[in-house]
Amino acid sequence: MASKKSWHGRLKASADAITAELLASIDIDTDLWRYDIAGSIAHAQMLSEQKIITKKEFQTIKKGLLSVASDIEAGTLAMPIELEDIHMVIESALTERTGDAGRKLHTGRSRNDQVALDLRLWARDAAESLISATKTLQSAFVELAREQGQIVIPAYTHLQRAQPILAGHGLMAYVEMLGRDVERIQDCRKRIDVSPLGSGAVAGTSIDLDRKRTAELLGFSTISRNSIDATSDRDFLVELAMCCATLTMHLSRWCEDWIIYSSTEFGMIELHDAYCTSSSMMPQKKNADTLELIRGKTASTFGSLMSLLTMVKGLPLAYNRDMQDDKRFAFMTVKQTLLALGVAPGIVSTAKFREEIVAATIDEGFLDATALAEYLVNRGVPFRTAHHIVGQLVATAEAEGLALSELTLDTFQEASDAIAKDVYQYLTAKNVVKRYAPDGAGGKKQLAKQLRFWTRKLQ
Ligand code: ARG
Repeated sequence: MASKKSWHGRLKASADAITAELLASIDIDTDLWRYDIAGSIAHAQMLSEQKIITKKEFQTIKKGLLSVASDIEAGTLAMPIELEDIHMVIESALTERTGDAGRKLHTGRSRNDQVALDLRLWARDAAESLISATKTLQSAFVELAREQGQIVIPAYTHLQRAQPILAGHGLMAYVEMLGRDVERIQDCRKRIDVSPLGSGAVAGTSIDLDRKRTAELLGFSTISRNSIDATSDRDFLVELAMCCATLTMHLSRWCEDWIIYSSTEFGMIELHDAYCTSSSMMPQKKNADTLELIRGKTASTFGSLMSLLTMVKGLPLAYNRDMQDDKRFAFMTVKQTLLALGVAPGIVSTAKFREEIVAATIDEGFLDATALAEYLVNRGVPFRTAHHIVGQLVATAEAEGLALSELTLDTFQEASDAIAKDVYQYLTAKNVVKRYAPDGAGGKKQLAKQLRFWTRKLQ
């Protein structure tokens, strides 16, 4: 097997089985094969345009690479672990099929710039998939907000009832978070979009390559400026992993909310059966397992981010073999994030707010207390004083088991002579929601504005 390796001229002994396993990344980097083939074809075309190989050799290489590609696609290409990775597997198959032409492909190239190139091509596609899946989820939230968003629900802080809002306002909060995730990935994509090809192993090459040409053939906006950095930079994977970590962190907050909201205690949301499971023992159970699994994806994504950072930390310039494992973390984090993003829109678009249950308890918990303090402010009472007065009224109402709207006018006027009969029009969750004033608040006109903004943006 040692003779199959491209460096058998230098090394006399070959690895035993377990060492070969340590050296190999073929179990994971097979996923790069399309990018590897595309990168090699572009490199060979450029070599021929530069007259470093002949046109005929380029055609032979291209044909050979395409036949290797179709064998990989069909699952018939042998991938011996001794060849280490997909780059060597493809090159060795090519050489078997094309002889000396194939042996010229690696001119002016190293696996170091080759793997950096393949990863960037992969990351570019990954970024596109993540962006489009995130937008699909945003659209599902927007639709739910449009269809069921007019229900009044409590907003919570500290998971205690805070102020009333339209349900749509709560849903649009997730759309905002996901919108920043999309922007982050778009920004990350700019730094992915740089071709490292032609950087060689570390210092470049004496062969007269046209780096701009391969960049152009592969659809990159620009080429890297420094061969040392280009072959050893993995920031773009760290950034992409950070985008996945933040995105799944956002998903986990949504899932946590809906797991709570769908409990009997909250009774706010009903999930479609297709996204729930039951229990092998308790026949009544309807568990939100899909939400829990999506919430749990943060374990993989946060772990991958930390793994990538740790992998690169303290590495001397430039390429070191530690980096080979980058693919394990990067592929896994994107795959798990896309899996979560793939299921989430269905959960959202089939969910139902349980309007009657919510309405039956919406006036518990003094959601209108802040609005009452603001009523006093509008009648000249300083806010701190108003806050104190309403605090006392809440304590009185709570002691009597009443809502604020059920207190008598006498009770109100004992607390403050600024309160008049019209106070009742300002109380109850429904009335409060009608009066939200500034942009970004939880009322109807603000929701309409958010829906307009995001509908246009997501088109
Ligand atoms: N499979 C390797 C990787 O993913 C290829 C690079 C090997 N380079 C080297 N100089 N040994 O990093």
